[in-house]
Amino acid sequence: MWWISDYHHQPTQTVHYGNKYVIGNGIYGYRGTLDEARAEDQVGLNISNLYDGLPGKWRESVNAWNPFYTEVYVQGISLNISTQSPTNHHQKLSLKHGLHQRRTTYRINDKDITIESERFISMHAKNTMALRYTITASDTLDVEIKTGIDTLIWELNGPHFKEFEHLSANGIGITGSTQECKHQVTLLTKTTLDDTQVVKDDSIFGETKTIHLTKNESFHFTKIIILDVNKPLEQTQETLTNQFDKGYNALRKDHQHAWNALWAISDILIEGDDDAQHALRYSIYHLMILTPDKDKSIPARGLSGQVYKGAIFWDTEIFMLPFFLHTNPRAAKALIDYRIKTLPGAQAKAKHYGFEGAFYAWESHENGQDVCSDFNITDVFTNRDVRTYFKDKQIHISGDIVYAMWHYVNHTNDTSILLNGGADVIFEVARFYLSYLKYDFTTDVYEALDVVGPDEYHERVNNNAFTNKLIAYVFEIALKVASHLKTQSPTTYTKLNEHRKIDTILETITRVHTKLKAPTKTKSQVIEQFDGYFALEDTRVDVLKTRLVHPQEYWGTSHGVAYPTQIIKQADVVTMLSLFSSDYSTDIKQANYDYYHPRTEHGSSLSASMYGLLACDINRQDDAYDYFMKSASIDLTGKSKQFAGNTYIGGTHPAASGGAYMLALYGFAGLKTSNGTLSVQPRLPKHIKSMQFKLHYQEALYTVTITHNDTQIKKESTHE
Ligand code: BGC
Repeated sequence: MWWISDYHHQPTQTVHYGNKYVIGNGIYGYRGTLDEARAEDQVGLNISNLYDGLPGKWRESVNAWNPFYTEVYVQGISLNISTQSPTNHHQKLSLKHGLHQRRTTYRINDKDITIESERFISMHAKNTMALRYTITASDTLDVEIKTGIDTLIWELNGPHFKEFEHLSANGIGITGSTQECKHQVTLLTKTTLDDTQVVKDDSIFGETKTIHLTKNESFHFTKIIILDVNKPLEQTQETLTNQFDKGYNALRKDHQHAWNALWAISDILIEGDDDAQHALRYSIYHLMILTPDKDKSIPARGLSGQVYKGAIFWDTEIFMLPFFLHTNPRAAKALIDYRIKTLPGAQAKAKHYGFEGAFYAWESHENGQDVCSDFNITDVFTNRDVRTYFKDKQIHISGDIVYAMWHYVNHTNDTSILLNGGADVIFEVARFYLSYLKYDFTTDVYEALDVVGPDEYHERVNNNAFTNKLIAYVFEIALKVASHLKTQSPTTYTKLNEHRKIDTILETITRVHTKLKAPTKTKSQVIEQFDGYFALEDTRVDVLKTRLVHPQEYWGTSHGVAYPTQIIKQADVVTMLSLFSSDYSTDIKQANYDYYHPRTEHGSSLSASMYGLLACDINRQDDAYDYFMKSASIDLTGKSKQFAGNTYIGGTHPAASGGAYMLALYGFAGLKTSNGTLSVQPRLPKHIKSMQFKLHYQEALYTVTITHNDTQIKKESTHE
């Protein structure tokens, strides 16, 4: 239950396993490729929140050089899984302790040679990584070990290090600065191998040694790795010496303790369904390896590479934040602080488009700059870039951030965040929406025209129901925050008011608020996704698929197959009903679930969990279970879209992992928090006997146990 493993390795699965077996600690992520893998296998040591951009190319997160590279040769034959078939192979990942292991046996000239390795990125000392490598042969044999740093990097829009320096004073190292912002990245390694020869070929900088193996006796060595960004070289060198002196086993122990502490709060026990338990733990593992550092956030593809530019989307606030809120409030705060820190970027974007306030980046980098391209898709027929309007028109992003912030405040009771920039964000988002809305004199309503909702297949629509709902919500929160500040912290309010004219914003909100365009409903209570949606061709996803000319063609933009139809990419109205569940009746939820479900492609990994939540809400546990399994196992099965048009979009899907977590808590357990109280209303799928989890809520830690007919909420401790 605590491991994932595979006993075969097909070259076609290298990329999938790279995602499936990824390890990380929130700062760094290393893809689950094998030790001997090279750039063409998509090896990646991804650095979080460090970006670089080259002229004419997409700006993206930076991959460091590969310090784990290790290859063994027997009589000149490389024991490389991509060129040599093994007689036995096993790749494993410990979800409990973030340890990647492999064991591969090759038969060469009637001798069996087994290589084994274990690696981890320390959860305890965040700049430390380690490798333990073992070779065993069935007979006496000489083998050559080559290990070092591979400087040939898998990157999508590099090279991010044009020049770098080789360091060999104490071990093997590389230091270099990124091209655009000149961030200094230093990678130092030291092995327990002695009397080695230095190797410095085209891309490998390392050491080599010939070992004489005796029959069935294993040879081991370990490698300690330190990766630092913008630290003086001496400091990194000193860390390497200290960590090397501690040794592999001690570092591993610290790392395991750190993991134990995380699991002690984060685990969810499911009785009665081993598959669900396994998939949920796998999802939680994926979130844990992304635990953010101070005022940093989490990219949409986690730390599995540079896809989506390593950028931060609404995925983090809406789908991942709940996990951290419940299990690690400090990490949740980092996510909120990231948006506070990047407010100037959001203000600059609003200004750029002629609006006021804060229009957050659709794809955010370190200063809140929007790196979403104007042309996100390459058309498979013409190979031309297609204009998309995700960046310009997906205005719900600002509201998503306010939604997340308000949940953080309610959940943690930490109102200090409002005083430290949070209130400013909320008022600035409200100001943005006020400047965005258009007044229709004939009907006396305010409208949000020309937007893109979560369903990206229908761009530039009017009055997307979800977006309008969020705008109304932001207005409500702005009013609440203003009255909170006026009573609790009048000086902050006065200062903000002087600076931003909050009184005027509030006055305008009171005028506009009740006149926001409400969505059209059919007689059967179905909410129209946007103005004119019901008039589009009504068809089904299967039918649309028969119209495709190319398997990878993009369904959206004005000439995509979905555009003239009611087929949508992902949960849209359903997202609104799931996030604002208490505002809608069961009848409305049922009607909309039934209507939108056959019209949704689930072309985004964000879709299933929102449907699953709504399914629970209307007591369709079997449907909910299917959505849960789809969300929780997306990176186990690798069943996800790899291309949008010709653009590669593979990698891990932490929003789906977060969605699975939400589905377990808010869906199956029916967890609700309101005004300082916790409640649960179990809606477990039939075969799941019980669920148990811990969660932080306000000043305390609770354990919740639910079965089909019993619930228990126990206060474990109160925070200081
Ligand atoms: C989805 C967006 C999502 C992005 C990153 C897109 O395919 O439509 O909603 O934010 O992927 O996961």
